[in-house]
Amino acid sequence: MPDALAVENVTVFYGTETARIAAVNNVSLAFQPGTLSVIMGPSGSGKTTLLSVLGLLLRPDSGRVLLNGIEAGELSEDERTRLRRDHVGFVFQAFRLMHALSTLENVLLARDIRGPRTAEDSERAEALLAELGLGSKLYVNPKDLSGGEKQRVAIARALFPNPGVLLADEPTASLDSQAGAQIRELLGKLTRERRMTTVVVSHDPRWTECADCVVFLEDGRVVKERTTAK
Ligand SMILES: Nc1ncnc2c1ncn2[C@@H]1O[C@H](COP(=O)(O)OP(=O)(O)O)[C@@H](O)[C@H]1O
Ligand SMILES: [Mg+2]
Repeated sequence: MPDALAVENVTVFYGTETARIAAVNNVSLAFQPGTLSVIMGPSGSGKTTLLSVLGLLLRPDSGRVLLNGIEAGELSEDERTRLRRDHVGFVFQAFRLMHALSTLENVLLARDIRGPRTAEDSERAEALLAELGLGSKLYVNPKDLSGGEKQRVAIARALFPNPGVLLADEPTASLDSQAGAQIRELLGKLTRERRMTTVVVSHDPRWTECADCVVFLEDGRVVKERTTAK
């Protein structure tokens, strides 16, 4: 079975020819289904840039990105967008919810891009929100939710298309310690139950306790890698 997600010798430069930095510098990593990996490193170490490459949002200057064995660099922009839309879910630090819409509508919003929604879509979104403990908050606007609840809505939205890959950029950085612990536990559980390939970027060492694999970045390079036998 191929790795669900892999980068090989990936480098990303920012800046101009005369003053450019390698935000990601010759990084090779592979991620497997059913595992939660954490990419750790100080601010500016290239975590968000690497996650953008893994999520096919950013084309690297060199190196290969493989999603389900498909080399993303060989696809057209449209094909990349489709591959990303069908297989990758994203979760962010700032939740990125639509505050004027209910939690249910937030989960269904991305669905509408693909065409008219069905009754089954609404039922599935309701069930997903219920599974994440938000069954009584379907018609509440996210602005009236706690931080932990907002992040659970964002996770429900990301999971709705049943992505094989879930990418999260600092998903607990805006949360208090209790809500953060809940989100860590939830993402670990969902990863195992759904056999997703989950990659979390964080500078919070508490993530290392629930991760199957920890990667440490510094100045765009992998300086340490640890796999926990579970
Ligand atoms: N759009 C950009 N243009 C220029 N430099 C950038 C851009 N995004 C990030 N950088 C630089 O690339 C490096 C890595 O940034 P980033 O991937 O955001 O790191 P992290 O997420 O670990 O904080 C930093 O030096 C940052 O200043
Ligand atoms: Mg970042």
